[in-house]
This record gives sequence, C-alpha cells and structure tokens, in this order.
Amino acid sequence: MRPPHHLLLGLLLLLCLHAPPRPTAAADTVSPGNGLAGTAARLVSNNSKFALGFFKVDSESPNTYLGIWFHRVPKLTPLWSANGDSPVVDPASPELAISGDGNLVILDRATRSVVWSTRANATTSRTVAVLLDDGNLVLRSAFNASDVFWQSFDHPTDTLFAGAKIGWSKRTGLNRRLVSRKNSVDQAPGLYSLELDLNGVGHLLWNSTVEYWSSGSWNGNYFGLAPEMIGAVMPSFKFVNNEEEAYFIYTLHNDTAIVHTAIDVSGRGLVGIWLDSLQDWLVNYRQPVAQCDVHATCGPFTVCNDAAHETCSCMRGFSVRSPMDWDLGDRTDGCMRNTPLGCAGEGNRTGLGDRFYPVPSVTLPYGPEKVQAATGEGDCEQACLGNCSCTAYSFGGGICSVWRGKLYNVKQQSGASSDGNGVVLYIRLATAEVAGVETKKSGRISTGVAVGASAAAAILMIILGLMVWRRRGKWFDSKLGNAQGGIGIIAFRYVDLQRATKNFSEKLGGGSFGSVFKGYLNDSVTLAVKRLDGAHQGEKQFRAEVNSVGIIQHINLVKLIGFCCEGDKRLLVYEYMPNHSLDVHLFKADEAVLDWNVRYQIAIGVARGLAYLHTSCRDCIIHCDIKPENILLDVSFVPKIADFGMAKVLGREFSHAMTTMRGTIGYLAPEWIGGTVVTSKVDVYSYGMVLFEIISGRRNSCPEYFKDGDYSTFFPMQAARKLLTGEIGSLLDAKLHGDVNLKEVERICKVACWCIQENELARPTMAEVVQVLEGLSELDMPPLPRLLNAVTGGSPTSLRH
Ligand SMILES: *[C@@H]1O[C@H](CO)[C@@H](O)[C@H](O)[C@H]1NC(C)=O
Ligand SMILES: *[C@@H]1O[C@H](CO)[C@@H](O)[C@H](O)[C@H]1NC(C)=O
Ligand SMILES: *[C@@H]1O[C@H](CO)[C@@H](O)[C@H](O)[C@H]1NC(C)=O
Ligand SMILES: *[C@@H]1O[C@H](CO)[C@@H](O)[C@H](O)[C@H]1NC(C)=O
Ligand SMILES: *[C@@H]1O[C@H](CO)[C@@H](O)[C@H](O)[C@H]1NC(C)=O
Ligand SMILES: *[C@@H]1O[C@H](CO)[C@@H](O)[C@H](O)[C@H]1NC(C)=O
Ligand SMILES: *[C@@H]1O[C@H](CO)[C@@H](O)[C@H](O)[C@H]1NC(C)=O
Repeated sequence: MRPPHHLLLGLLLLLCLHAPPRPTAAADTVSPGNGLAGTAARLVSNNSKFALGFFKVDSESPNTYLGIWFHRVPKLTPLWSANGDSPVVDPASPELAISGDGNLVILDRATRSVVWSTRANATTSRTVAVLLDDGNLVLRSAFNASDVFWQSFDHPTDTLFAGAKIGWSKRTGLNRRLVSRKNSVDQAPGLYSLELDLNGVGHLLWNSTVEYWSSGSWNGNYFGLAPEMIGAVMPSFKFVNNEEEAYFIYTLHNDTAIVHTAIDVSGRGLVGIWLDSLQDWLVNYRQPVAQCDVHATCGPFTVCNDAAHETCSCMRGFSVRSPMDWDLGDRTDGCMRNTPLGCAGEGNRTGLGDRFYPVPSVTLPYGPEKVQAATGEGDCEQACLGNCSCTAYSFGGGICSVWRGKLYNVKQQSGASSDGNGVVLYIRLATAEVAGVETKKSGRISTGVAVGASAAAAILMIILGLMVWRRRGKWFDSKLGNAQGGIGIIAFRYVDLQRATKNFSEKLGGGSFGSVFKGYLNDSVTLAVKRLDGAHQGEKQFRAEVNSVGIIQHINLVKLIGFCCEGDKRLLVYEYMPNHSLDVHLFKADEAVLDWNVRYQIAIGVARGLAYLHTSCRDCIIHCDIKPENILLDVSFVPKIADFGMAKVLGREFSHAMTTMRGTIGYLAPEWIGGTVVTSKVDVYSYGMVLFEIISGRRNSCPEYFKDGDYSTFFPMQAARKLLTGEIGSLLDAKLHGDVNLKEVERICKVACWCIQENELARPTMAEVVQVLEGLSELDMPPLPRLLNAVTGGSPTSLRH
C-alpha cells in the first residue's frame, strides 16, 4: 500500500534496489596512465564518505554510468552521474582516463571511442582528477591544487551536496540547477528541475517552463513559503547574492551525517537521512507535500488522486502509453486513447462521431481557454464539439472553458464534492467509448471516496510504519546525542526517555491526556516529554499529534523532536519551553505581568502559526483546541502553538470536516454545538476568545462576568459594546497600568470581535488577521456578536471523546 502523501514519518526512500559493488581499498585520484577500468574499480574520498566509479542501477539494464555515491550506504543511491544521457551500453566495458588534452574522459574500451568528456579548457595537459572529501570531483593541474579546470559541483544532476552551490555565476552565466532523473533506472535527465532565480527564489519547474512550486523569497533566515526548512531539515544554510554570484548553499553540523537532498523522479524535492540502525533512508521533508501538486505528474489524460492506492490512473477511455516507463515511475507519456476520435482521421472534420463523458469532482486541467461567445452549457458543448482539436470542456459560473490537445493536472477531489459543488469536466471520447462506459458507469464515476476509510488507512500506515521501523533495528543504541543534529524526528527507546526524565520525576503539567515531564538529553538540551495515558485515548492523541505536528515546522508551532511507541507506551518529545504557557502569565497573580508589547507580539505570532496551519502547509490542519494553555512561550516569549492531540488533518481539497465535537468550553465556536461540519473558522473563533483574554488578563469565563446569570457582562460582549462607543481603555487589564498602545488595543479588539462572529463566513481568515495585526490592512467596525452559544461552562474543561 502506498503511504498517504502527508506521512513523512515512516516513509522510506526506496531509491534503488541493488547494492553497489563491494568496497575495496581505493585511491582518490585518477592521473594520466592511471585510470579506472571496469565496474569494480573506484575512487574513494579520503574520508571514506564518497565513492566514484561505474555503476548499474539495475543488473537487468544494459546501461553503465559513471557516478558518485555514498561509499558506506549499502543501498546504491547515485548522487551524481556524468553520462546520464550517454550510458556505456553492454557488452562494452567502460574506462575512465585522462585524455591527451588533459580532460577527464569515459572511453568505450571496445572501440576506444570517447563517450563523455569534461570538455574543459585546461591550460596544461598534466592534469589529475580527484574525488574530494565533500564529494566534489575536480579536474585540476597535477602541480597546483588550486588550479581547477572543471568540477562536478558545477554540473549537478539530481542531488545537492552539502557544501555545493545551487544558483548562478553572474560572470559566466553558469546556472547550477538540479534536474530529476528520467526514471528509477535510467539516469538520463528528466523533465523536472529545481533552480534558483537571481533574487534567490527557488522554483520547481516542469520542462524548464511551468512552475509548480516556489520557495518564496529568502528573508535572511528561511524561505518565505517554506519556513519548515528551518532546523528540521537543513542544519545550516544561507543564500549569497553579490556581484559575482547568486547561490544557495547548506552545510552539515556534523560531516558524518549522511543527508541526501535531491529532486526525485516524480518531481518532488526531498531531504532524506540515512539511518544505520534501519539500513534505509528516512525522508523527512518533501515539497510539494502532495504528489498531485507536481505539474503533469501523471502525464497527459490521467487523473491524479493523492488519497488513492495508485496515485495515477488513466481517464476513462484511455490506457497507459508506455507501461514499462510507467512502472519505473516515469509518467511523462501518460495515457492514450483506446478509440480514435470521430474527427481524428484526416478528411473527417465533422466531429459527429464524438460524445462527452462527464468526470465529476475534479480540479480542472492546466491551460483552459475561455470561450466568450458560449453563454450556456449547450453552447459550450457545441463550441468544443465543433473544433476537432478540442478535447474537453467545462461550464461553471457562466464561464465556458475548453481545452485543446493533451489534458494535464486533472486531480480527483474527494470529500467536499459529495454535496454537488465539485466541478464537472467533460472529456471528449469516441461515441463507442462513451456507450461502453455508460453501462458500467456506477463503479468508476462515484467519487464519494470513502474519506473515513482513507483517513483510517493513513493512521494505520503510521502505526504500521512505526512498528516496522521499531523492529528493524535497535534505535540509535541509546545515542540520544542524535537529537542534536536537528535533522529529523527521533524514535526514542522507552528506557532512554525514562533516564532523560529521571524516571518521570519532574512533572511540568498534566491533563486528561496524560502528563508532561521535564527531561534532559544532555547538559545543553532540555525536553518536554508528554506521556499519554489511557490506552485508547492515548493512541488517538498520539496519532493525531505525530500526524500533524510531526510533518510541519514553523517558528510559531512547537517542535516535535521525537516520540516513543513501545508496547502500549506512547510518548511525545518536544522542545522545552522555559516560559510555560500563556495562561500562567495572564491569569496567575504571582507571575510577572506581560507588558503590552509582548502581548501584541504573542497575538501576531499565534495568528501566524494558525495561518500557516490553515493554508500554507498544504494539508489544511485545524487545531481544534486553541486556548492559552496550548500557547507556549519560549525563552524570548515567542509563542508556540502546542497540543495537536485534537487536530484535524484535512486533505488538501477539503474545506470542512465532519467530526465529533472537540475542544474546550469557553473557546468553542457555535457550529460545534449547532452541527458537526467544521472549518478552520473554529480556530479563528477560539483565537478571538484568546485575544479578549490577552486584553483583559482574565478568563472570559471568569465568574464575575456572569453575576446573576446576566450574560451581558460577559467580557467579549462588553468589549464589543465599548469598542463601538470608543471606551476600550476601560477594558484593559489593570495590571498594565494603562501602559499600552491604544491603537493596537483597538485593533486587537476589532479583530477579536470579528473572530467571534456567530456566522463563520463573517469571521476573517487567519491570514487576514495577520495582515490586520501587522497594520497592513484595516477592518470595519464589527457588529455586536449575538449572544454566544458557546458560553455555557464556568471554568474551562476539555471535551474528550
Ligand atoms: C588523500 O590522502 C592521500 C594520502 O594520504 C594524499 O596524498 C592526498 O593528497 C589526499 N587527498 C586529499 C584530497 O586531501
Ligand atoms: C573553451 O574555449 C573555447 C574557445 O576559446 C570556448 O568557445 C569555450 O566556451 C571554452 N570552454 C569553456 C568550458 O570555458
Ligand atoms: C596555483 O593556481 C592558482 C589559481 O590558478 C594561482 O592563483 C596560483 O598562483 C598558482 N600557484 C602556483 C604556485 O603556481
Ligand atoms: C518541452 O519543451 C520543449 C521546448 O520548449 C518542447 O519541444 C517539448 O515538446 C516539451 N516536452 C514535453 C514533454 O512537452
Ligand atoms: C559527529 O557524529 C558522530 C556520530 O554520531 C560522533 O561520533 C562525532 O563525535 C560527531 N562529531 C562532532 C564534531 O560532533
Ligand atoms: C467521421 O464522421 C462520421 C460522422 O459523420 C462518423 O460516423 C465516422 O465514424 C467518422 N470517421 C472516422 C474514421 O472516425
Ligand atoms: C480550433 O482550435 C484551434 C486552436 O485553438 C484554432 O486555431 C482554430 O481556429 C479552431 N477552429 C475553429 C473552426 O474554430
């Protein structure tokens, strides 16, 4: 079974199936008269990290390539190949040598013909090729190590080595970019590439032209649209832009770590770590997160479905064009028609032999053309039928769109479509095909994909993944120090966590889910270890948490360092937050008072974290339990949203979810009570409630507000009224002694009132909230919220199910 796309954990990178030839003691240099011949010979870098030699990815394949791989990784993973598009083909035997002009060349030994050459302009014919410790193969003068004529780092294939540049040399125009390989065996360049533009924005491109993902611009610390790269993935990286060059580079804290940063055959960027204990790759970062977000990932005339067992399938009436490539992961050719169109034959331009077949609930293909003249569905159909190059049409919202030629990027939508909102795409098929389809239509067209079932499958996969993963080797042999590299999520052994927490002696907090303990990894790293209690409940929380927070990284979200899943024990390990949670500072009398500026920054930070959860990280995640207890503060009071135990991960195409009620009374949006369909707007509501508490420094549900059952004294109601009359000063936490920025108080108060509107559509999105709090946009005066349904309980208690 294919693991769902959003599971980074447990996803193992099975790049290649064959072990590289057994290592033999080897030099790191090729010199004139001293080359490499045949597939057993190799160069090994002095630190034994990298090897260079001839390899075959698959013993069945006739193609031999010259390449570089990790010397100590038994699963052959090509990092660079010289002659991807000109392999040495069996039975010829290859040789690597320095040619008469000083270039490094691959010779076909049978014919002595040159298959590949560095084609550098060496100023001397006395050159040597050396495989350096960082994996760079350099061709240099035999006498002067700094006189380099050519280097493999300037001609990367699909992998970005630590210490290598990706980007531009402005002087020579050299653009170092990563290019995917054609398929899992063929090392020829594929259609996908990762490149940097001169502004330092990274782009994933199809055929060098169509962009399907962008990193956003570099803000000095991370890429705007990919903040999750921080720490989790690339230990240390930087962007350099000067007159000579514009490039991005990363380095490893510890050179012994084996990290693979690449673009894979299917067009996704990835970072994997080799785990000795597992004898396999663990991929802990992928972009785009969803396979179907890669342009043309399944090729033409296909339907992509991230939730399905097989991501790619042919449209009805089409079959796989090149099954061999398809099986090796190369979907470029996609699918082809089973029956030619009526007007396909020359001289038959009537198109009368064709019909349209509806595909409901999809996202429409790439590159529509609008037909202005067609104002009705019938016109639209005719417009398409009347032109033989038209392959599909769709009519919606009064707009007629048609497509010509190949159809790319049709994605199946699931879930939300069952209410009839999905878009219908009509594809043109020969009449014979449509007739054939109509009789057996029920099975295929039905798109009410069993959402529940796939979610269950997802959860099963994690657990299965974790189990298998646990069993396959002893984890890190108590080398807890691995957490320091900051490159991935760690599977801890129970005994290690027992030791780290001094047998769970220092309790930081607790709740119905279990308890949180302080732990020490070593002298410098402090942890918060959450031990989930109750077999059933614990399991649920554990899955939800690993599934959501495990795959995301954001400065305003608490970072999951690792977990333990042993027998019935379920533990989650986080970074420790020295300043506890927001409620402690707002409501506890003996804590230092948070000044206004800090409160405002906390409000913005939480809004940013939520906006990221709701939109930026591809799977929409609804936290479902936003309250001051779940907002942790780091040493500089930067807020981090925590406790994803109730979070709901929605597929990318979903905007809402059917779910059982969850959350905490006092912060619950009315739709929880009215119905069961919720959207990310429930978090907006809870966030609004938290804003009121930030202003007042008291619980909204504080008993004083409900004297004699009079709800009009409820703080949010008072605040809304005073906002209208301009008396917000009187709302403020007395502990602030009026030392505030009134403009900001008014802004927060406005935002809060909009957030708690009964009608979820009236509430802003979290992205809009961020804009307003940053002063980039304004909100109108909010209407008075009607009486709040959710105000029922006294002190906040969690609803657990
Ligand atoms: C690798 O080690 C050999 C032998 O010690 C030495 O001659 C050579 O210069 C070293 N190569 C590099 C790149 O440091
Ligand atoms: C080598 O020199 C030739 C002729 O001067 C030039 O056209 C070519 O671009 C040079 N190649 C490199 C890699 O600098
Ligand atoms: C070695 O090569 C570098 C770069 O071409 C040059 O700057 C340096 O002067 C050379 N050193 C010697 C000793 O020739
Ligand atoms: C990629 O682009 C080139 C030139 O722009 C074009 O000739 C080629 O057909 C394209 N490849 C595919 C698979 O469409
Ligand atoms: C790098 O990691 C290895 C293995 O975990 C360890 O033995 C070594 O001391 C580390 N080196 C540094 C400089 O931290
Ligand atoms: C050409 O169009 C006619 C309808 O006028 C259709 O019956 C016929 O099958 C088409 N010819 C071919 C070769 O598809
Ligand atoms: C059919 O579509 C093609 C491509 O857009 C266009 O060039 C052509 O003029 C159209 N033919 C008719 C009859 O509309």
